Amino acid sequence: MSKNAKDLAKQIKGIAGDAPVRIGLILGSGLGHIANEVDGIAIPYADLPGFPHAGVSGHNPNIVVGAFEGVRVAVFGGRAHYYESGRGDAMRLPLEVLKELGADTMIATNAAGSMQPDMPTGSIMCLSDHINFSGLNPLIGEPTDARFVPMKDAYDPQIRADLHKAAEAAQVDMADGIYAWYSGPSFETPAEIRAIKMLGADAVGMSTVPEVILARFLGLKAAAISTITNMAAGMSDEAISHEHTKAMAPIGAAKLEKVLRGYLRALS
Ligand code: HPA
Repeated sequence: MSKNAKDLAKQIKGIAGDAPVRIGLILGSGLGHIANEVDGIAIPYADLPGFPHAGVSGHNPNIVVGAFEGVRVAVFGGRAHYYESGRGDAMRLPLEVLKELGADTMIATNAAGSMQPDMPTGSIMCLSDHINFSGLNPLIGEPTDARFVPMKDAYDPQIRADLHKAAEAAQVDMADGIYAWYSGPSFETPAEIRAIKMLGADAVGMSTVPEVILARFLGLKAAAISTITNMAAGMSDEAISHEHTKAMAPIGAAKLEKVLRGYLRALS
């Protein structure tokens, strides 16, 4: 673990208290408001040296440490993406800090485009696996043998089962599906979407995969949920833009929040 991560964890504990965090939540585009639901203390990324700027509109660049449905969590209100800096490991430091705060689990959320007609805008998808369509990897340059991270069951089967249980209890439809990571920041072409679909992906987005790889590298269990903000390029006449993503995210976000709350309540 880097010294910087240890120092930052100490700084955060000094502000938010020493009690160990159980779960880290990373919030995607249009989902940043969930951080406001946590009964805790918000610390701006800007106060944490080395933290990413998370400068994408629709994100909320604070870490909030406190209780959410009775579980001590650290909520990352914004994430850094590969496309902002050209660095695949842009979220490494925040995840190292999460581990230092005591967490054993990371749950990522994101906005994604759908390749499945029965998974329309406004629906949510629990990731069962991913395809790293970018060819990038956040562990490039990591010198230790720990870099050879096994990725079978990277999306923890028990957490997925518990998330599905929470969705059922909340009467929220949540599909299972495979997420393809596209580097962005431009959206995909229709030909790329046809290709990714043929490879077996159900949804596409510009995040999450590097975080899941890093989480597994750090020994954190991982899970992720997408909110579908649009049909992927060429799948419908629907507009695709960041504005549209932000406008549509709240529909799925309300469902996602119900699932997360139910999942955490059952843990507490
Ligand atoms: N493609 C990539 N990322 C996205 C999309 C998409 O269609 N929608 C939301 N994030």
